[in-house]
This record gives sequence, structure tokens and C-alpha cells, in this order.
Amino acid sequence: MGVPDQYRGREQTYFKHRLLEAYLERLFMIVGHHEQTICYVDCFAGPWEEQGDDLGDTSIARSLNIIKKCRGGLRKIGKNVQFRALFVEQKSKSFHKLQDYLSSRKDDGIDTQALNGSFHELIPEIFKWCGPHGFVFFFIDPKGWKNAVELPTLAPLLRRPDSEFLINFMYDFLSRTVPQAKFQDDMWNIFGVIPDDQGKSPEQREAYLLSLYRNNLKQVLPVGGKKPRTACVKVLKPTKDRTLYHLVYLTRHHKGIVVFMEASYKLELVQKRARAVAKQDERFQRSRQMEMFAAAEHVSGERVGRDLVDVEEYWLKNLKDKPERYGMEKLADMQEETGWFESDFQEAFGELTRKGLVKNLDGTPKRRSKFVHFNDDERLAKVTL
Ligand SMILES: C[S@@+](CC[C@H](N)C(=O)[O-])C[C@H]1O[C@@H](n2cnc3c(N)ncnc32)[C@H](O)[C@@H]1O
Repeated sequence: MGVPDQYRGREQTYFKHRLLEAYLERLFMIVGHHEQTICYVDCFAGPWEEQGDDLGDTSIARSLNIIKKCRGGLRKIGKNVQFRALFVEQKSKSFHKLQDYLSSRKDDGIDTQALNGSFHELIPEIFKWCGPHGFVFFFIDPKGWKNAVELPTLAPLLRRPDSEFLINFMYDFLSRTVPQAKFQDDMWNIFGVIPDDQGKSPEQREAYLLSLYRNNLKQVLPVGGKKPRTACVKVLKPTKDRTLYHLVYLTRHHKGIVVFMEASYKLELVQKRARAVAKQDERFQRSRQMEMFAAAEHVSGERVGRDLVDVEEYWLKNLKDKPERYGMEKLADMQEETGWFESDFQEAFGELTRKGLVKNLDGTPKRRSKFVHFNDDERLAKVTL
């Protein structure tokens, strides 16, 4: 499926919305089994760069559509979950559009509210709206980083138990800001240190800054909650092979990491196709030459940016001679540490099994792609030669 016309020229937003939808749908259906109320807070709501009055290309409409769908799905299985959604927007013109839109959706059965003002100043009010208990998902999608993604800004929310976050980490802006002396205090607030990126290649620098930020987020512990975990997805510029931003996800549940990685895995191809089309459009604009084939047709599902040998080495480094159980929590640990998908671990484990270097004591020889059933806590070990 191609990119809808409203998203042409801003394919990164399409990808962001698809990821948000895919993850929210899985999350709400899981959480809805045990929570009576689910809250969703869009802290930088917009509407922003919308192409039509139906706001169909905004996170506002798309999140509400998912909430409506999950509410219906949960009711069908006897779970009468109350969904509440809060949208925060600073710009008054956008705020009025937002309010009108929310009024037009009164019949969805979702308790919605909009707040006008600056996110960081409204945090006490957001907190009050959420209440101290119950599940809340915070979507933090600013245009920059100031008063948005720094730790002192986010800490009060991060301390709230039973909360998850999806944060747009604007790498493109930030990476230009890091070297500037006048922003040192801000860098301290974002990374917890003044980053020392001397001598690093662009890739190493990106990985370094992202891991500093993720680790810093994890320093804020929720009251009485479990240790925070993070995962992230890289969003590239539509027509350049450079990172625009990372969507950093923070949860306290290992299952959250696994589900988030599944959602991003399914969307990898969506991003690749969207970028292939954007690049083709750009070539056409430059040369006015139509190309014979639609760009998206050539996009394969092959993984880029991951070497199977590295995954194999990771397995060999971590497996012991004595069998150990590998369950979902272990998978989440591995994904959090490496950023690799479950399919990467499966493929590498299959390869190592063929080479006779590892074994799954609970596996069967018939398995062709899922060599480890993490759901079943299977026993894995290195083969001693
Ligand atoms: C990147 S856009 C959000 C896009 C939206 N989440 C989406 O995906 O459709 C950021 C929005 O935040 C608003 N904004 C900027 N600074 C803000 C602040 N300090 N507090 C709240 N909203 C702010 C902007 O007016 C803009 O509508």
C-alpha cells in the first residue's frame, strides 16, 4: 500500500502515525483486559500541517480512531473500559481547530478534553487530569526539544507509576546543537552529561547520543514501580539517507518492549516503501522524466543496518554451556540492549543450530523460522565442542 496523498512530502509523519496506531492498538487491547480506565495524553497535539478539515492525517484523528476501535473490540469481549483522551496545544488557532474537532466526535463514547498552553507549564494540570492511579500513555511529539524532552521537564511525568511514553527525540536538530557552547545547560538537562563526541563517526555519534538520552530517561524511577525500559525506532528523512528523529518508547514492562518491537518490525517495510516513493517523486521533479516502474515495487523486505554475523556473535557470547531458560523477559532484555528484532534473533539462532554451535533443548527439528518459542520459556545452550 502506498502513502496516502495527504502525506506526500511528509512521509516521516505517515510512518510516525502508522507506528503510533500499530502500537496503541496492541497496547490498548492488552491493557484493556485488566484496567477499567485507560488515559491517552497527546502533549503536543496540533493539528499541525493537516491537509484537510477531517484532520485524517493528524495524530489527533488517528489516535481517536484507534481508541474507538479498541473500545468497540473490548466491549465485544465484555470489557467495558472507559477511555479518556487529553490533547494539549499551545497555538491558539490550532487549539480552536482541535476543540471544534473534538466536539464533532462527541458520539465516539470517549471522554476527551483539550488544554490550551505550553506543555511544560501545564504539567500540573495534565497530572491532575490523569489522576494518581490507572494507566496513561503519553505521546510527546514536539517540533524541537526545548521545554519538551529534557529530564527536568519530563521527570514529574516519568515518576508517575503505570505510565508509558512515546517521545519524539529530534535528532536532526539536536545533533547540530550539541557542539554549541551556549546550549551546554540544555545538553546537561537532556543527556545528564555534556556529551563528548570527539573522534566519533556520524553513526557512532548518533548511537552514543541516543543511548545517553535513553539511559538518562531511565534514571527517573517511578514511585514504587518497576525499572524503566526503552526501545526506539529510527525515522529517516524521506529523500535523504539521514536520521530525522528517533521515536523513543519508555515502559516498565518487558512485554511492552516486545510488542513495540513487533509493531516497528511490521512497519519497517512501510518506511522503506514511503521513502522509495518520495525519492522517485524527487527525481521526477528534477528531471521531469517518468520512470518505468513504481519505486515501491522494488523495495524488498531485506534487513539493512544489521549484520547476521553480529547477531550470531551476540548469541554465542550470551549462551552458556549449561541450559538456561529464554522467556519473554529475556527477549525484551536482548532487544533493549541491541535494538534488533525478534526475527533477527530467530534467524541467527537457526543459523547457529545448523552449524551445530547451539541447541534448543525444547525445540523440534521441524521448525523453519521460529527456532525459539520465547513464550514457552525454552531451554537454550551453547554446544560444547
Ligand atoms: C510536531 S507538531 C505535532 C504533530 C502531531 N503530534 C501529529 O503527529 O499530528 C507539534 C505541535 O505542538 C505545538 N506546540 C509547540 N510548542 C508547544 C508547547 N510548548 N506546548 C504545547 N504545544 C506546543 C505546535 O503548535 C504543533 O501543533
